[in-house]
Amino acid sequence: MNLEDIKKSALEALKEITGPEKLEEIKVKFLGRKSELTQLLRSLKDLSVEERRKLGPKLQELKKELEESINKKLKELQVTSYELQVGKLDVTKPGHKIISGHIHPLSKIEEEIEQIFLSMNFSVVEGPEVEDEYHNFDALNIPKDHPAREMWDTFWLKQSDGGLFARPAAKRSGLGQKSKLLLRTHTSPMQIRYMEKNNPPFQIIVPGRVFRYEATDASHEINFYQVEGLMVGKDMSLANFKFIVEEFFKRFFGKQKIEFRFRPSYFPFVEPGIEVDIKLHRSTQIGTRISADKNLSKSESRWLEVMGAGMVHRKVFNAVGYNPNDITGFAFGLGLERLAMIKYKISDIRLFYSGDLRFIKQF
Ligand code: FA5
Repeated sequence: MNLEDIKKSALEALKEITGPEKLEEIKVKFLGRKSELTQLLRSLKDLSVEERRKLGPKLQELKKELEESINKKLKELQVTSYELQVGKLDVTKPGHKIISGHIHPLSKIEEEIEQIFLSMNFSVVEGPEVEDEYHNFDALNIPKDHPAREMWDTFWLKQSDGGLFARPAAKRSGLGQKSKLLLRTHTSPMQIRYMEKNNPPFQIIVPGRVFRYEATDASHEINFYQVEGLMVGKDMSLANFKFIVEEFFKRFFGKQKIEFRFRPSYFPFVEPGIEVDIKLHRSTQIGTRISADKNLSKSESRWLEVMGAGMVHRKVFNAVGYNPNDITGFAFGLGLERLAMIKYKISDIRLFYSGDLRFIKQF
């Protein structure tokens, strides 16, 4: 084959290929060690000087030409393969949506409640979910064997030392040095913890998770959230409490019309004690399933308890070292889920903890 033929067949071969894989074959065939061109280049040394001068530059030129053609083809093929890919890509197709999570409805409600109380000059504090018996019960005037402990049956923690935990505060109250640990049944123990370390006047709220050993239904869970409120100072009265609660409801429910009532009740750590109820209506679909659970088919509405409250008991002030003759205050504990259920017309408290995305995504 003369040089022209080599060039011609190499260029033809290059013209025909459609993919980069074939390019390597061509490169080997026309420029590889066993290729005709390489053989010719090798045989130059056997030629006379004159022949070498004549043929040498021609061979080098052909080699250069072939290398350039191969590189050019490689670039073309790369572009084509990119174009092919782009061709397959439908740029008009909607993209894959990245699903981002969002805040849980209960966190949202907690935030709303906190903002309202912050705007009324309350501070937000938090306390431990694992409490000791002293703060959860004894200091709140619920001694062992008090029937009120029945209302707040809970989960007691086993500890290596037999479930006992040293508490200086327990010692001060004369209850001995050790107190058993439990999952707190309400946020009220933070009343004690806060007053142990701070002096009045103050007003705080304590949002947090609480735990109870009880049967679940549409309005009862074994783990739920409360927001404790405590306002202590001089000459506080139930009128102050009533104002704060009314103002809170007004801001929390906004345009939604709700009916609520105060009713006498009993909690060992307040005197007098009260409970606050909100009316559930079938017509407005507020708490329909809750009503259904209570067989309310004949009647149009029923009351749902949302909060326990009252004036702080003298014995509680004594337990934290305040003088009950100087100081007065009110406390309340509201159920976060129940308020959320009323505001957002949620029929069953268990939905909050079901992990069902169809529910969660509505908020
Ligand atoms: C208490 O827990 C008292 N610590 C409240 C209190 C605080 C009274 C300060 C006086 C002064 P009670 O057990 O009633 O009270 O619960 C308070 C609120 O928590 C109820 O009104 C209700 O809204 C909510 N709640 C109670 N039990 C459950 C439950 N199992 N599931 C969901 N919410 C509940």
